[in-house]
Amino acid sequence: MIVAIDGPAGSGKSTTARRVAERMGWLYFDTGAMYRAVGLAFIDAEQPFSSEAAARLMPGIGVDLDPTSTGLHVLLNGEDVTVRIRTPEAGHAASMVAVLGEVRSRLVEAQRRIARREVEAGRGAVLEGRDIGTVVFPDADVKIFMIAELAARARRRYDEIKAGANGDTPLLDVISDELAERDRRDAERALSPLLPAEDAVLLDTTALSVDEQVERVLGIINERRAR
Ligand code: DC
Repeated sequence: MIVAIDGPAGSGKSTTARRVAERMGWLYFDTGAMYRAVGLAFIDAEQPFSSEAAARLMPGIGVDLDPTSTGLHVLLNGEDVTVRIRTPEAGHAASMVAVLGEVRSRLVEAQRRIARREVEAGRGAVLEGRDIGTVVFPDADVKIFMIAELAARARRRYDEIKAGANGDTPLLDVISDELAERDRRDAERALSPLLPAEDAVLLDTTALSVDEQVERVLGIINERRAR
């Protein structure tokens, strides 16, 4: 079974998708991590975020996901970049390369291949991203579009960064502005903009705890399986 969870940054997709996949014994597939790894490859190569650079670089970029007992590892040409892709710079680079057709077509193809492999092996995959229900798997068995008010999303991101930070934590206002800016770029781009699929279930997580989000999604999956 393919479960598509889309939505803006900080809507609760990652935590929920990971926990749902764990509960089902399925693959947790963070597609944003792939865009982040490609963004990092552009930074490392000191290339601009342009289609010309993408045409030059993409044939030499290999992004793989390695699900291990310690979580999902992201490999960029064999190098483990799981930690490096979580910086704000990598997040910014990801949203810049995500507008490029060369980048999207290659990553979408890889995402379909990896998820289909799971289904063929009799398992399922929970894919989390921006265009899973609309472009990557328009026939997904379950489609969920998670939303939450900007203030709630900024607060979650702030708490996450604070929990993992060694040094200074950015101000809440700065995080909120950055989130709004990324949402705008993701929603306004011409290719695969952030949009709910027509048949997606909208889930507003503003007032929901993580446990509640997970239970809601599991409920939707079980309902679908019973049909
Ligand atoms: O979910 P995230 O913050 O790790 O995503 C990083 C960027 O990648 C985000 O700006 C949008 C983009 N992205 C995308 O365009 N399509 C996806 N399926 C996943 C992420």
